[in-house]
Amino acid sequence: MKKIIIINGPNLNLLGKREPTIYGSSSFEDFYKALKEKYSEVELDYFQSNIEGELINKLHEVGFDFDGIVLNAAAYTHTSVGIGDAVKGLETPVVEVHISNVHSREEFRHVSFIAPNTKGVITGFGLQSYELAIQSFL
Ligand code: DQA
Repeated sequence: MKKIIIINGPNLNLLGKREPTIYGSSSFEDFYKALKEKYSEVELDYFQSNIEGELINKLHEVGFDFDGIVLNAAAYTHTSVGIGDAVKGLETPVVEVHISNVHSREEFRHVSFIAPNTKGVITGFGLQSYELAIQSFL
């Protein structure tokens, strides 16, 4: 069984409540439950933190063992040299995802410290971005 983890960064615990015109109105928990059912052949895991160091610790924990990491580092994508370095040091391939199309938004969102060390980036497909990333590992 393939082991894939979704790691969500800051403010993504508020999905469904936060800026629904940009991020939609479903909670991540409901979406994750449906994903787990749909991809029952995958050992799917999920972790969310608002704290940069906790995200780095989780990347270290899974990054030599899992088959794929789906990472939405949210705002840290655009600021964190630490998360970028962590991703660079892992063996497990990482796909960077975003719910919104970061390239159609403010200029500071066009920068990613993570993207250069990933398998690829999926941005702008709503929650479906996560599903597309999972498919890329199968
Ligand atoms: C986001 C895009 C980021 O720019 C933003 O800071 C987020 C969410 C997205 O999924 O669209 O918090 O990663």
